[in-house]
Amino acid sequence: MKLCVIGTGYVGLVAGTCFAESGNDVICVDIDEAKIAALRKAVVPIYEPGLEELIRRNINEARLTFTTDLAAAVKTSEICFIAVGTPEGADGAADLTAVLAVAKSIGQAMDGYRIVVCKSTVPVGTADKVRAAIRAVTKHDFAVISNPEFLKEGAAVEDFMKPDRVVIGGDDEHALECMRTLYSPFVRTENPILAMDNRSAEMTKYAANAFLATRISFVNEIANLCERVGADVAEVRRGMGSDRRIGHHFLFPGVGYGGSCFPKDVQAIIRTAHENGLDFPLLNSVEEVNEKQKKLLVEKVVRRFGEDLKGRCFAIWGLAFKPRTDDMREAPAIVIIEELLRRGAKIEAHDPEALNEARKHFNDRISYHRLNYDALQDVDALLIVTDWNEFRRPDFSRMRSLMKAPVIFDGRNLYEGDVMRQHEFEYYPIGRTAVGGDAAKAGPKTAAKAAR
Ligand SMILES: NC(=O)c1ccc[n+]([C@@H]2O[C@H](COP(=O)([O-])OP(=O)(O)OC[C@H]3O[C@@H](n4cnc5c(N)ncnc54)[C@H](O)[C@@H]3O)[C@@H](O)[C@H]2O)c1
Repeated sequence: MKLCVIGTGYVGLVAGTCFAESGNDVICVDIDEAKIAALRKAVVPIYEPGLEELIRRNINEARLTFTTDLAAAVKTSEICFIAVGTPEGADGAADLTAVLAVAKSIGQAMDGYRIVVCKSTVPVGTADKVRAAIRAVTKHDFAVISNPEFLKEGAAVEDFMKPDRVVIGGDDEHALECMRTLYSPFVRTENPILAMDNRSAEMTKYAANAFLATRISFVNEIANLCERVGADVAEVRRGMGSDRRIGHHFLFPGVGYGGSCFPKDVQAIIRTAHENGLDFPLLNSVEEVNEKQKKLLVEKVVRRFGEDLKGRCFAIWGLAFKPRTDDMREAPAIVIIEELLRRGAKIEAHDPEALNEARKHFNDRISYHRLNYDALQDVDALLIVTDWNEFRRPDFSRMRSLMKAPVIFDGRNLYEGDVMRQHEFEYYPIGRTAVGGDAAKAGPKTAAKAAR
């Protein structure tokens, strides 16, 4: 098939590349000229495992091209994907400016029947708006399909190649059949392609993200309660997750969710509810819990070192909102670092991939380290914010020798208490027993234990 994918961000670039990998001719379109110029030379602007190799191969085999000329791309494509951003607007609703501008441009450029697919995450009813925007500028026939994307950054290629399911919404049978054909190479393990109406497809994406965000906030609340009552959230999580009705996924306590999707999608669904005369108290709480959770690590630091952190220096391991990505949009690390800076602390930061993104946020307000141990020189404590795999088995003796004091605030529960005790670290995890020092200072749990 001949396709164009408009918007070459995390979603569009991965989708376009994976469609090319399965034999289609794909043109990726973006308004960002520098990005397109780089991509033509297979220079990939984002970090996503496996993506660069696929892009290189499909460029070489002439199935994947890049352009800023949307009209030319639409003229040679049977299917046009819209994969531009839908950021949070001032009122919390998704901003559809780019989606509708692209829809109009597609309408102006098309010279016959086209299938227009909305892959961006968009509120219920957007397919109708896309249809109206195209109809206003063309007499040609077209179909609008809603095809929300469920890939995870950090595993985007794998998720796209082997999706749990593909959701396609629309009422044009020919278009739905084309979509089934297009996706058939990706569902060879019998994972379903679910066809439904546009509105249900649009809603499915928000419902899925809102539910995952709810699980995260739920387990964070359980973790905070575990600390109060002297229970271990790691055990509780195992006990809960073994119930098949619950499962183990998305039950890891931490420093709150971030990224370009959960925060804005939760806001957008709350907004949709309001516009339709409904409150959504559950999701309001999910949001509130998450905002609180982002500050938890700093609260522990303050309990340990006091309100005024002038003269203190902290290492941060992990800046991206999750491992295996360089994306720092809405990353908890931003809230944590800003709060530590506000209290006068110095920051020595390390992330395997996100240092360039971090520089855009913090400029010279913090120091950056390419190697994780380099960030530890003479620091008062280490804060672990992102669970990159390479942080899981560090050389604790080397860490001790570099740090001013062996203190770790672990926002991802990467280490076990007995290992920390063995290496004589003061250790503050989330929802688990703190180790060493005056542990009660950074968590109320020790007091609960003492009372028993
Ligand atoms: N990032 C994710 O993990 C993810 C997962 C699922 C769904 N989504 C959704 O997919 C959509 C895209 O997300 P993303 O993370 O890829 O966004 P992104 O910000 O990484 O990329 C968007 C791209 O669109 C381009 N663009 C903007 N306006 C344009 C226009 N008028 N014409 C051509 N190009 C234009 C931008 O230059 C940018 O390259 C969003 O709706 C998002 O909610 C994202």
